[in-house]
Amino acid sequence: MADGLGDLIYSRIGELARISDDPDRLTRIYLSPAHKQAAGVVAQWMREAGMGVRIDATGNVVGRREGSTPQAPAILIGSHIDTVRDAGQFDGCLGVLIGIAVVAELAARQVVYPFAIEVLAFGDEEGVRFPSALGGSRALAGTFDPAVLDECDEQGVSRRQALVAFGCDPGTIASEARNAATALGYVEVHIEQGPVLEAEDLAVGVVTAISGATRGVVEVTGETGHAGTVPMHGRRDALAAAADMVLAVEARAKGEKDLVATVGRLSLTNAAGNTIPGKVQFSLDVRAPLDAQRATAVADIKAAIARIAAQRNAAAQVTLTHDAAATPCDARLMQLLSEGIESIGLRVRHLPSGAGHDAMAFRGRLPVAMLFVRCKGGISHHPAEHASAADIDVAARVLLTFIDAYARDGGNR
Ligand code: HGY
Ligand code: MN
Ligand code: MN
Repeated sequence: MADGLGDLIYSRIGELARISDDPDRLTRIYLSPAHKQAAGVVAQWMREAGMGVRIDATGNVVGRREGSTPQAPAILIGSHIDTVRDAGQFDGCLGVLIGIAVVAELAARQVVYPFAIEVLAFGDEEGVRFPSALGGSRALAGTFDPAVLDECDEQGVSRRQALVAFGCDPGTIASEARNAATALGYVEVHIEQGPVLEAEDLAVGVVTAISGATRGVVEVTGETGHAGTVPMHGRRDALAAAADMVLAVEARAKGEKDLVATVGRLSLTNAAGNTIPGKVQFSLDVRAPLDAQRATAVADIKAAIARIAAQRNAAAQVTLTHDAAATPCDARLMQLLSEGIESIGLRVRHLPSGAGHDAMAFRGRLPVAMLFVRCKGGISHHPAEHASAADIDVAARVLLTFIDAYARDGGNR
């Protein structure tokens, strides 16, 4: 095996991290100039690995290494190159760069399988720019909803306009869909973004399932007024109402195992220190390993918001913008990953993913599997996010072994 695949991947992660929409922190937003630049760099690395490369209709970078027969169905290896604001360097990019390095290693060994391999660099996993997420991976899964083309970002630019400006043709998105004749399964390598592997001193782990997620926006409307003249009694303070609602969201989740709920964004309209807030918007993010559990929690949260609004003589509008079902990983693919880990003498640890991933888009469409890589302190969505070159090297070796085992295990079945 080429010395230090981990070192190569680690240095490339650092290179990509310098491509940002913000001058002094890592922020790479879907279809932004930084996304365009990063896509170009990733495409070049894919070409150097011997892959045919194209940018697809939703801005994904798609690299393909052919199998022993032309147009053979492909194993898909992917993750995302978009980031949150002030992000860490490893979330997403790690899975793309490991895929490229593994294909380059197979090319160096002149190994050809009966199936093709596609490496995918998705651009809309984080869903920072538009209300819904997974726009790139859902296109490949064949579950892209054309209605999201009319979603707008904070500047009022629609997804459709942003795609055209990026050089894409939104009219061809439906043709990007893979199916059982063209794709065999989807594998994603990703940092754990949690503390389990580090606590048990393990470099990698096999994901069993990905929690489902509901995202939404809550708009609270009260009545603007002069901070100095309007008596406290009878105010319709939208921010005070929103504050009660945020605490109700937290309280609902705190009361139940494995359920998490977060308000990550809150904004006021026409904010001024001497004015009673009249309109507030805040985000909602609810996750659980079981879909029924999440649905009940979302219903309870909506009811609590309505109750608080009524008590405070305010109005509240809850708009759900994204829903991704809990995604079980495929038993066969999990087994092949486990065998890969054992083959290099490591203990196999299975664990769920509380974080969402592009793999969710393929639920019910393709078998999916994920390999987690230990990250320092479980920190993620933060500049301190870190995975070691040594652990990345382990993950690359497991992925190489997985592909070989997949071929021996009957590949295309
Ligand atoms: O929100 C998530 O879990 C993922 O990082 N987009
Ligand atoms: Mn991610
Ligand atoms: Mn993320």
